[in-house]
Amino acid sequence: MVAAPASDDPVRGSTLTLREVRHCFDLEGQPLPVLDRISLQVGRGEFVALLGPSGCGKSTLLRLVAGLDAPTDGSLLTEGREIESPDPSRVVVFQDPTLYPWRTVWSNVALGLEARGLLRTHRGRIEDALRLVGLTGFANAYPHQLSGGMAQRAALARALVNDPKLLILDEPLGQLDSLTRITMQGELVSLWQRAGFTALLVTHDVEEALFLAGRVIVFSQRPAHIKAEIVNARPYPRHRGDPHLAELRHQVLAHLGLDATW
Ligand SMILES: Nc1ncnc2c1ncn2[C@@H]1O[C@H](COP(=O)(O)OP(=O)(O)OP(=O)(O)O)[C@@H](O)[C@H]1O
Ligand SMILES: [Mg+2]
Repeated sequence: MVAAPASDDPVRGSTLTLREVRHCFDLEGQPLPVLDRISLQVGRGEFVALLGPSGCGKSTLLRLVAGLDAPTDGSLLTEGREIESPDPSRVVVFQDPTLYPWRTVWSNVALGLEARGLLRTHRGRIEDALRLVGLTGFANAYPHQLSGGMAQRAALARALVNDPKLLILDEPLGQLDSLTRITMQGELVSLWQRAGFTALLVTHDVEEALFLAGRVIVFSQRPAHIKAEIVNARPYPRHRGDPHLAELRHQVLAHLGLDATW
Protein backbone atom coordinates (compact mmCIF):
# COMPACT_ATOMS: atom_id res chain seq x y z
CA MET A 1 0.00 0.00 0.00
CA VAL A 2 1.40 3.35 -0.99
CA ALA A 3 -0.39 5.17 1.78
CA ALA A 4 0.69 2.97 4.69
CA PRO A 5 1.53 5.23 7.60
CA ALA A 6 5.20 5.24 8.52
CA SER A 7 4.36 4.03 12.04
CA ASP A 8 3.11 0.67 10.65
CA ASP A 9 6.34 -0.06 8.85
CA PRO A 10 8.94 2.54 9.65
CA VAL A 11 11.84 1.25 7.54
CA ARG A 12 10.44 0.84 4.06
CA GLY A 13 13.22 2.73 2.33
CA SER A 14 16.34 1.06 1.00
CA THR A 15 19.99 1.74 1.75
CA LEU A 16 22.30 3.25 -0.83
CA THR A 17 26.04 2.81 -0.93
CA LEU A 18 28.39 4.57 -3.34
CA ARG A 19 31.98 3.35 -3.36
CA GLU A 20 34.60 5.43 -5.09
CA VAL A 21 32.29 6.22 -7.98
CA ARG A 22 34.00 7.85 -10.93
CA HIS A 23 32.39 8.86 -14.18
CA CYS A 24 33.87 10.17 -17.36
CA PHE A 25 32.10 11.27 -20.55
CA ASP A 26 33.59 11.48 -23.97
CA LEU A 27 33.44 15.00 -25.36
CA GLU A 28 34.62 15.27 -28.97
CA GLY A 29 37.11 12.48 -28.43
CA GLN A 30 38.43 13.94 -25.18
CA PRO A 31 37.60 12.42 -21.79
CA LEU A 32 35.49 14.69 -19.62
CA PRO A 33 35.84 13.62 -15.96
CA VAL A 34 32.57 14.38 -14.20
CA LEU A 35 32.54 12.43 -10.94
CA ASP A 36 35.68 11.98 -8.88
CA ARG A 37 35.63 9.09 -6.41
CA ILE A 38 32.30 9.75 -4.73
CA SER A 39 31.71 7.62 -1.65
CA LEU A 40 28.48 7.94 0.25
CA GLN A 41 26.36 5.85 2.58
CA VAL A 42 22.64 6.59 2.85
CA GLY A 43 20.57 4.82 5.49
CA ARG A 44 17.03 3.45 5.13
CA GLY A 45 14.47 6.21 5.14
CA GLU A 46 17.09 8.96 5.19
CA PHE A 47 16.50 12.23 3.29
CA VAL A 48 19.73 13.44 1.70
CA ALA A 49 20.13 16.61 -0.38
CA LEU A 50 22.88 17.16 -2.92
CA LEU A 51 24.06 20.68 -3.64
CA GLY A 52 26.76 21.86 -6.01
CA PRO A 53 27.66 24.19 -8.85
CA SER A 54 25.81 23.90 -12.15
CA GLY A 55 27.40 21.29 -14.39
CA CYS A 56 29.38 19.61 -11.61
CA GLY A 57 27.80 16.19 -12.13
CA LYS A 58 24.75 15.95 -9.85
CA SER A 59 22.30 14.73 -12.50
CA THR A 60 24.93 12.33 -13.78
CA LEU A 61 25.20 10.85 -10.29
CA LEU A 62 21.41 10.50 -10.03
CA ARG A 63 21.33 8.72 -13.40
CA LEU A 64 23.86 6.21 -12.08
CA VAL A 65 21.80 5.68 -8.91
CA ALA A 66 18.70 5.18 -11.04
CA GLY A 67 20.59 2.56 -13.07
CA LEU A 68 20.16 4.55 -16.30
CA ASP A 69 23.94 4.62 -16.87
CA ALA A 70 26.85 2.60 -15.51
CA PRO A 71 29.78 4.30 -13.75
CA THR A 72 33.20 4.39 -15.39
CA ASP A 73 34.63 3.03 -12.15
CA GLY A 74 33.53 2.22 -8.61
CA SER A 75 30.25 0.70 -7.51
CA LEU A 76 26.74 1.64 -6.49
CA LEU A 77 24.73 -0.68 -4.30
CA THR A 78 21.30 -0.73 -2.81
CA GLU A 79 20.56 -3.13 0.02
CA GLY A 80 24.01 -4.57 -0.67
CA ARG A 81 23.20 -5.40 -4.31
CA GLU A 82 24.89 -3.76 -7.26
CA ILE A 83 22.71 -1.32 -9.23
CA GLU A 84 22.85 -2.57 -12.81
CA SER A 85 19.66 -1.37 -14.45
CA PRO A 86 16.59 0.77 -13.76
CA ASP A 87 14.11 -0.72 -11.33
CA PRO A 88 10.64 0.40 -10.24
CA SER A 89 11.85 0.44 -6.63
CA ARG A 90 14.18 3.33 -7.58
CA VAL A 91 12.34 6.05 -9.45
CA VAL A 92 13.42 9.49 -10.64
CA VAL A 93 11.33 12.64 -10.72
CA PHE A 94 12.86 15.24 -13.02
CA GLN A 95 12.52 19.02 -13.08
CA ASP A 96 10.15 18.80 -16.00
CA PRO A 97 7.05 16.71 -15.18
CA THR A 98 6.91 15.23 -18.75
CA LEU A 99 3.34 14.00 -18.58
CA TYR A 100 1.82 12.54 -21.75
CA PRO A 101 -0.61 15.24 -22.94
CA TRP A 102 -3.04 12.75 -24.49
CA ARG A 103 -3.45 10.79 -21.27
CA THR A 104 -5.47 11.82 -18.23
CA VAL A 105 -3.79 12.29 -14.86
CA TRP A 106 -5.05 8.85 -13.84
CA SER A 107 -3.66 7.18 -16.90
CA ASN A 108 -0.33 9.04 -16.65
CA VAL A 109 0.00 7.81 -13.09
CA ALA A 110 -1.01 4.31 -14.22
CA LEU A 111 1.94 4.06 -16.62
CA GLY A 112 4.37 2.33 -14.26
CA LEU A 113 1.83 -0.33 -13.28
CA GLU A 114 0.76 -0.81 -16.89
CA ALA A 115 4.36 -1.37 -17.99
CA ARG A 116 4.78 -4.03 -15.32
CA GLY A 117 1.45 -5.73 -16.04
CA LEU A 118 0.17 -4.84 -12.57
CA LEU A 119 -2.66 -2.53 -13.55
CA ARG A 120 -5.45 -5.02 -13.02
CA THR A 121 -4.28 -6.24 -9.63
CA HIS A 122 -2.94 -2.95 -8.23
CA ARG A 123 -5.39 -0.33 -9.56
CA GLY A 124 -6.05 0.90 -6.04
CA ARG A 125 -2.52 2.21 -5.83
CA ILE A 126 -3.34 4.90 -8.38
CA GLU A 127 -6.03 6.39 -6.14
CA ASP A 128 -3.66 6.10 -3.17
CA ALA A 129 -0.88 7.92 -5.01
CA LEU A 130 -3.25 10.66 -6.20
CA ARG A 131 -4.52 11.09 -2.66
CA LEU A 132 -0.97 11.31 -1.30
CA VAL A 133 -0.16 14.23 -3.61
CA GLY A 134 -3.55 15.92 -3.14
CA LEU A 135 -4.87 15.33 -6.65
CA THR A 136 -7.99 13.36 -5.84
CA GLY A 137 -10.69 14.91 -7.97
CA PHE A 138 -8.30 15.56 -10.87
CA ALA A 139 -7.94 11.94 -11.97
CA ASN A 140 -9.80 12.64 -15.22
CA ALA A 141 -8.12 15.95 -16.01
CA TYR A 142 -5.62 16.24 -18.86
CA PRO A 143 -2.17 17.76 -18.26
CA HIS A 144 -3.09 21.04 -20.00
CA GLN A 145 -5.85 21.48 -17.42
CA LEU A 146 -3.36 21.44 -14.53
CA SER A 147 -1.26 24.21 -13.01
CA GLY A 148 2.53 23.77 -12.97
CA GLY A 149 2.48 22.65 -9.34
CA MET A 150 -0.33 20.17 -9.99
CA ALA A 151 1.54 18.74 -12.98
CA GLN A 152 4.60 18.28 -10.80
CA ARG A 153 2.43 16.57 -8.17
CA ALA A 154 1.07 14.26 -10.88
CA ALA A 155 4.68 13.41 -11.80
CA LEU A 156 5.33 12.63 -8.13
CA ALA A 157 2.23 10.42 -8.01
CA ARG A 158 3.50 8.60 -11.12
CA ALA A 159 6.68 7.83 -9.19
CA LEU A 160 4.89 6.94 -5.95
CA VAL A 161 2.56 4.46 -7.62
CA ASN A 162 5.58 2.16 -7.90
CA ASP A 163 5.87 2.25 -4.12
CA PRO A 164 9.56 3.20 -4.41
CA LYS A 165 12.12 2.33 -1.81
CA LEU A 166 14.37 5.05 -3.11
CA LEU A 167 12.93 8.26 -4.53
CA ILE A 168 15.40 10.18 -6.67
CA LEU A 169 14.50 13.82 -7.14
CA ASP A 170 16.34 16.00 -9.67
CA GLU A 171 15.29 19.57 -8.90
CA PRO A 172 11.63 18.54 -8.94
CA LEU A 173 10.44 21.93 -7.71
CA GLY A 174 12.87 23.99 -9.77
CA GLN A 175 10.32 25.39 -12.20
CA LEU A 176 7.66 26.33 -9.69
CA ASP A 177 6.91 29.81 -8.39
CA SER A 178 8.18 30.43 -4.88
CA LEU A 179 4.79 30.13 -3.13
CA THR A 180 3.94 26.82 -4.79
CA ARG A 181 7.45 25.68 -4.11
CA ILE A 182 7.15 26.39 -0.38
CA THR A 183 3.82 24.56 -0.24
CA MET A 184 5.23 21.58 -2.11
CA GLN A 185 8.28 21.41 0.14
CA GLY A 186 5.93 20.96 3.10
CA GLU A 187 3.98 18.35 1.16
CA LEU A 188 7.13 16.49 0.25
CA VAL A 189 8.15 16.25 3.91
CA SER A 190 4.80 14.79 4.96
CA LEU A 191 4.79 12.45 1.97
CA TRP A 192 8.23 11.19 2.87
CA GLN A 193 7.26 10.78 6.53
CA ARG A 194 4.15 8.81 5.65
CA ALA A 195 5.60 6.64 2.89
CA GLY A 196 8.97 5.99 4.53
CA PHE A 197 11.10 5.85 1.36
CA THR A 198 14.74 6.92 1.20
CA ALA A 199 15.05 10.26 -0.64
CA LEU A 200 17.93 11.64 -2.64
CA LEU A 201 17.26 15.21 -3.76
CA VAL A 202 19.27 17.47 -6.04
CA THR A 203 18.43 21.12 -5.60
CA HIS A 204 20.02 24.51 -6.19
CA ASP A 205 18.13 25.97 -3.30
CA VAL A 206 20.04 25.92 0.00
CA GLU A 207 16.92 26.71 2.07
CA GLU A 208 15.06 23.88 0.36
CA ALA A 209 17.88 21.44 1.13
CA LEU A 210 17.90 22.49 4.79
CA PHE A 211 14.13 22.46 5.11
CA LEU A 212 13.88 18.92 3.75
CA ALA A 213 17.03 16.95 4.36
CA GLY A 214 18.66 15.33 7.35
CA ARG A 215 22.00 15.61 5.60
CA VAL A 216 23.27 17.99 2.95
CA ILE A 217 26.15 16.92 0.72
CA VAL A 218 28.08 19.73 -0.97
CA PHE A 219 29.89 18.95 -4.21
CA SER A 220 32.87 20.73 -5.72
CA GLN A 221 33.10 22.03 -9.28
CA ARG A 222 33.43 19.32 -11.96
CA PRO A 223 34.77 16.75 -11.60
CA ALA A 224 32.59 16.60 -8.51
CA HIS A 225 33.99 15.33 -5.27
CA ILE A 226 32.33 15.67 -1.89
CA LYS A 227 33.47 18.91 -0.28
CA ALA A 228 31.36 18.78 2.85
CA GLU A 229 28.56 16.94 4.62
CA ILE A 230 26.32 18.96 6.89
CA VAL A 231 24.09 17.05 9.27
CA ASN A 232 20.76 18.70 9.98
CA ALA A 233 19.22 17.02 13.01
CA ARG A 234 16.39 19.53 13.42
CA PRO A 235 13.11 17.65 13.96
CA TYR A 236 10.21 17.98 11.51
CA PRO A 237 8.18 19.99 10.86
CA ARG A 238 10.88 22.60 10.49
CA HIS A 239 10.43 26.34 10.63
CA ARG A 240 11.98 28.56 8.02
CA GLY A 241 12.84 31.23 10.57
CA ASP A 242 14.76 28.78 12.77
CA PRO A 243 18.09 30.46 13.71
CA HIS A 244 19.84 27.07 13.66
CA LEU A 245 18.84 26.60 10.01
CA ALA A 246 20.17 30.11 9.30
CA GLU A 247 23.47 29.08 10.85
CA LEU A 248 23.59 25.90 8.75
CA ARG A 249 22.77 27.98 5.69
CA HIS A 250 25.86 30.10 6.29
CA GLN A 251 27.96 26.97 6.57
CA VAL A 252 26.57 25.52 3.34
CA LEU A 253 27.02 28.79 1.44
CA ALA A 254 30.60 29.03 2.65
CA HIS A 255 31.29 25.49 1.36
CA LEU A 256 29.78 26.51 -1.96
CA GLY A 257 32.21 29.40 -2.05
CA LEU A 258 29.47 31.99 -1.78
CA ASP A 259 29.50 35.05 0.44
CA ALA A 260 28.13 33.75 3.73
CA THR A 261 27.01 37.23 4.80
CA TRP A 262 23.89 37.05 2.56
N1 LIG B 1 25.56 12.34 -22.14
C1 LIG B 1 26.58 13.19 -21.95
N2 LIG B 1 27.63 13.24 -22.78
C2 LIG B 1 28.67 14.07 -22.59
N3 LIG B 1 28.73 14.93 -21.55
C3 LIG B 1 27.70 14.95 -20.69
C4 LIG B 1 26.58 14.08 -20.84
N4 LIG B 1 25.72 14.34 -19.82
C5 LIG B 1 26.28 15.29 -19.08
N5 LIG B 1 27.47 15.65 -19.59
C6 LIG B 1 28.40 16.64 -19.02
O1 LIG B 1 28.64 16.25 -17.68
C7 LIG B 1 28.77 17.39 -16.86
C8 LIG B 1 27.84 17.26 -15.68
O2 LIG B 1 26.51 17.32 -16.13
P1 LIG B 1 25.29 17.16 -15.10
O3 LIG B 1 24.05 17.25 -15.90
O4 LIG B 1 25.51 15.94 -14.29
O5 LIG B 1 25.50 18.44 -14.18
P2 LIG B 1 24.57 19.00 -12.99
O6 LIG B 1 25.44 19.08 -11.78
O7 LIG B 1 23.34 18.20 -12.89
O8 LIG B 1 24.27 20.47 -13.50
P3 LIG B 1 22.95 21.37 -13.27
O9 LIG B 1 23.03 21.81 -11.85
O10 LIG B 1 23.15 22.50 -14.22
O11 LIG B 1 21.77 20.53 -13.58
C9 LIG B 1 28.49 18.60 -17.75
O12 LIG B 1 29.70 19.19 -18.11
C10 LIG B 1 27.81 18.01 -18.97
O13 LIG B 1 28.16 18.75 -20.12
MG1 LIG C 1 21.31 18.62 -13.25
